[in-house]
This record gives sequence, C-alpha cells and structure tokens, in this order.
Amino acid sequence: MKTLILHTENNNEKEISIQKAANILKEGGIVAFPTETVYGLGANALNEEAIKKIYIAKGRPSDNPLIVHISDINMIHTITEYIPPKYDALIKAFWPGPLTLIFKKNDKIPDIVTAGLDTVAVRMPDNAIALELINKAGFPVAAPSANISGKPSPTKGEHVIQDLMGKVDAILLGEDCKVGLESTVLDLLSGQPTILRPGGVSKEAIEKAIGEKVLDNSLHNVGDKQIASSPGMKYTHYAPKVPVIVFIGSLDNMIHGIQTMKEIKEKEGLRVGILATEETKAFYSGCIYSVGSREKIETVAGSLFHVLRSFDKEDIDIILSESFTTEGMGLAIMNRIIKSAGYQVMDVGGET
Ligand code: TXA
Ligand code: MG
Repeated sequence: MKTLILHTENNNEKEISIQKAANILKEGGIVAFPTETVYGLGANALNEEAIKKIYIAKGRPSDNPLIVHISDINMIHTITEYIPPKYDALIKAFWPGPLTLIFKKNDKIPDIVTAGLDTVAVRMPDNAIALELINKAGFPVAAPSANISGKPSPTKGEHVIQDLMGKVDAILLGEDCKVGLESTVLDLLSGQPTILRPGGVSKEAIEKAIGEKVLDNSLHNVGDKQIASSPGMKYTHYAPKVPVIVFIGSLDNMIHGIQTMKEIKEKEGLRVGILATEETKAFYSGCIYSVGSREKIETVAGSLFHVLRSFDKEDIDIILSESFTTEGMGLAIMNRIIKSAGYQVMDVGGET
C-alpha cells in the first residue's frame, strides 16, 4: 500500500494536509495523526470496514477495544445516550486532555470498536492538529496508538514511519507528543472509580477533581518475587527487542545493583544497555541512555518510549533499567517500564 506522508510545518501546508487526511478518513481509510499523548492510528468510529483495517495494520488482537476521539463535546451524543453526572467534573477539568472515560455505548458504534463490550472508551485530545482533523472529518475517530502491537507507542513521527509505512493510507506529521505516555483510562460506571490504565492524568489529580478515592491495580505485580522469578510469563507490551530487568529500591541500592548485574552479565559474554537518568548516568559505563531528570518526572514520561525504541538500534543483549516513584506521573511511567520488562523485577531493597 502507498502511504501518503502529510507535512504540517508551515500553516499553508498544514491546512491542506489536515484536509487531505480528513478526506481519507471520510472515504474509509486509516490515517496516523499526532495527539498530546502518543500518535494515534485513526479511522471513522462508525465505519466497521475502516476499523478492521486498523486491527490489520497494527497486528492488534481483536479482543482489545479502541479509544474513540472527539473534537467537540456534542459529538459524544453520537456515541452514548448517557453522560453519568459524575463525569461532569472530570470532563470540565481534563478535556481536552489525556483522560479517557468509559461510557455505555449506543448502537451506532460497531462492536468491532469495543471488542464486543457494551461500553466505549472516549477522549478529547489536547492537540490542535488532532482536533482539527476530527472536526473536519465530522465524525468520532477511533484510534489506538499508531505502533505495531507490542512495541513502545510512537511519540515522534519517525516512530510511526518506522512501524506503519506501507501499511496505512497516510501519516499526518506533527510535533513530538508532549506528554509522551498514553491517556489514563478511567471507569466510573462500575462502582468505585477505577483506573484501568494509568497515564497522562495522575490518580491524585482525578481524586482531587471528584473528591473520591480511586482504585488502581496497575502495579499489582511489582516486587512480587514469584512473578519476577518466572521469566516464562510472556508479556509483549512496550517491549524492546531484548529483555529488560527493572531494579526497584533506594537510589543507592539501584545503582549498585545495576553495576553488579552489569558485571555478571558481561562475564557471561552479554552486552548490556542501561536505562538511567540525568542524576545517575555518571555512575555507569558503556551503553547508557538517560531518560530524563528525576527532578522533572514529566521529562521521563516524555522520552521513555523514544529511549526504549533507541535501544533497538544498539548492539546489546539485555537492558537494565532504573525505576521511579509511583506518585503522580510516576505511576504511568512505572506501569510502562514494568510491562516493557515483562514483569522481570529485581527488588534491591531500601526506600524508593
Ligand atoms: O493516549 C491514548 O490513549 C492514545 C491516543 C492515540 O489517544 N491511544 C491509545 O490507545 O493508547 P490504545 O488502543 O493503545 O489503548 C487503548 C486502551 C487499551 O488499554 C484498551 O484495553 C482500553 O483503552 N479500552 C478501550 N476501550 C475500553 C473499554 N470499553 N473498556 C475498558 N477498556 C477499554
Ligand atoms: Mg497502544
């Protein structure tokens, strides 16, 4: 398939590109586009045939439902009959933005979008190109992250080109995604508010907006030695080509643990990559990537997926990764790192 690359660097070009992308969506095609979280791969959420193309291009299992994107709050009425009153405060506080809410779906949304569920995930992205694209299309746009299933989500146009060139109708390029991790998926339909996936809006911020405690099980397996010692458990989310081990504990213990493990692995003849931070990179030698500053956790969110993808270009056999606080954005960061490691965690002790 020929993939059209659409540029948006200057204003004139931008208008034309977005209009072309919208036309492709109207004709039932699939288009990758930037959002504030990660790039999405969009299709008309009301067109079953178009949605099928998304699953094929990504190699996505058909039991994993898609997020539907809107550009205007009125668009939600094409998706659901009912907005639970509890959602008002969240919509007011976080839309447009990286919060996805679960609604009861109506009959217009094909089952393929929701993988047969009677609920549908919806968000309004905080990105001018995305909003204009959806607005010009005139219908809600279903879009998973624009990566090959299992790989780290794309936060730069070049990541999308790497993964989807020749597999989609067009790639609409924009600036790098400013959040860098996907949206938080929140369910308020079934009893206590529950985070189904941590992301760009923190648990603390949600609790503040609704004045209620929010449940979250996304780090359920952290430090669980049973699982850490069971490498047979295959998780293929956000995964670089080589295995990842995450070190959890105090900063000093983490650095020491990684240095020691690096020596052991090198004695075994393996080449080691290290995922470090600005504060710690000087303690290591060899193939080191700094993912950002511990003092500015949003910098870590912003470059995590790029760093995970960068390791694929290195001549290494294993990646040893530092860990982060689970407060604020740290929860989503740790969720992604632990999944990229297939839950291979080394607890080196001490307060994190
Ligand atoms: O930031 C984002 O959310 C990005 C951008 C493109 O908007 N999209 C994204 O989509 O990350 P995707 O498909 O990679 O992840 C969608 C997540 C999955 O964890 C899926 O299981 C969940 O949302 N999801 C979708 N519909 C759901 C539903 N009805 N109930 C529960 N979870 C749902
Ligand atoms: Mg995804």
